[in-house]
Amino acid sequence: MDRRHFLRIAGGGAIAAATSTTLAGCSSALPPEAIAAWQGPGNEPDVRRWILAHAILAPHSHNLQSWLVDLSVPDEITLFIDRSRLLPETDPFSRQMMMSQGTFLELLDLTAKQKGLHAEIALFPQGVFAPTTVDARPTARIRLVPDASVKPDALWTHIFLRRTNREAYEARDPAADALQAITASTAGWAVRTGFVGSSQPDLLQQHRRIAMEAWRIELVTPRTVMESIKVLRVGPTEIARHRDGISLNDPMVRALAAVGLFDRSKAPTPDDTSTTTQIKDFNANMAATPAFFWMVTEGNDRATQINAGRAYVRAQLAATATGLSMQPLSQALQEYREQAGPYGEIHQLLGAPAPRFTVQMWTRLGYAPVIQPAPRRGLEAHILKA
Ligand SMILES: Cc1cc2nc3c(=O)[nH]c(=O)nc-3n(C[C@H](O)[C@H](O)[C@H](O)COP(=O)(O)O)c2cc1C
Repeated sequence: MDRRHFLRIAGGGAIAAATSTTLAGCSSALPPEAIAAWQGPGNEPDVRRWILAHAILAPHSHNLQSWLVDLSVPDEITLFIDRSRLLPETDPFSRQMMMSQGTFLELLDLTAKQKGLHAEIALFPQGVFAPTTVDARPTARIRLVPDASVKPDALWTHIFLRRTNREAYEARDPAADALQAITASTAGWAVRTGFVGSSQPDLLQQHRRIAMEAWRIELVTPRTVMESIKVLRVGPTEIARHRDGISLNDPMVRALAAVGLFDRSKAPTPDDTSTTTQIKDFNANMAATPAFFWMVTEGNDRATQINAGRAYVRAQLAATATGLSMQPLSQALQEYREQAGPYGEIHQLLGAPAPRFTVQMWTRLGYAPVIQPAPRRGLEAHILKA
């Protein structure tokens, strides 16, 4: 097989390896223990555990899964952020971390409904985090209360099928009724959503251009690209050991890593083949992206960020239900200095001038090939021990 291999990593990029052979007998299927959580909890009798086993399937930036729960009070769940699992370079104010607490809470809430329980969610029960830091106080306290008026939400059935899809998307617009379903899924949340597709070619082109530039900046900024490299898990042994982060399981990268040709100890230079090829690959994906989706909030306090995460996973579940895929494009939304240009551009393009408005989420949207689920650490890893 004479071709170059492009291996996708966090943020939708790729580590490239020039190669001309294929490795017989190697599979890129993830090790079963890394994706066992996607089998679900079966008939787990403890309702809180049953619910949490669904919540851990939520999307989380860089798949860090920074969710810790205290179950010491009956019928309650207290959620904390795991401060050993933050992204200080690319998410300096932990905005995406807060969104990732929100995605978890939304799947928890949807799953409680399946059991006829109302999840009374109190955000920051011991006080709200400061705008730029997180601390040891809980992000939420959840009381599970039986409630005969609670009805299941159809989005719940798509939890196991939801994926962040970084493949190339088909060159066709999302169906109009699918866009309506995505919009409807976030009703009730204080977010403004929007889409762009092929009917607005100039606008679509601007979205693609900003995404490409933001991605390039992230890759050529050593401290931000290193943050992704640190959570790369290469090959089945690393993937099974960590069950988080960004999995690279392509046989060729595994071979390169095995012989020491994939150096993860330092950031590649801007002209390194791995950087230029990742940029080329990402740009090709962007150029073929038929549509983008976004979510804007007025204000950007901690509760708004959590609720934006809740709205996002609902939108992604609604997309899943209609056969559509999403991939967040967080780079231009990130608050580190080098991204100031793309940050300003995307806010302006979406009619969301900062600081009054914040673009909380911006994604590619389209029809894509079916992919494997991403690893999960499993429920026990999230339960605080007394
Ligand atoms: C707030 C937030 C930001 C994210 N940003 C990106 C991103 O910039 N690029 C990307 O490819 N995925 C992004 N993701 C998706 C995560 O990488 C993904 O949820 C995680 O790897 C687990 O995979 P899954 O969603 O398929 O379960 C983001 C997710 C969240 C919740």
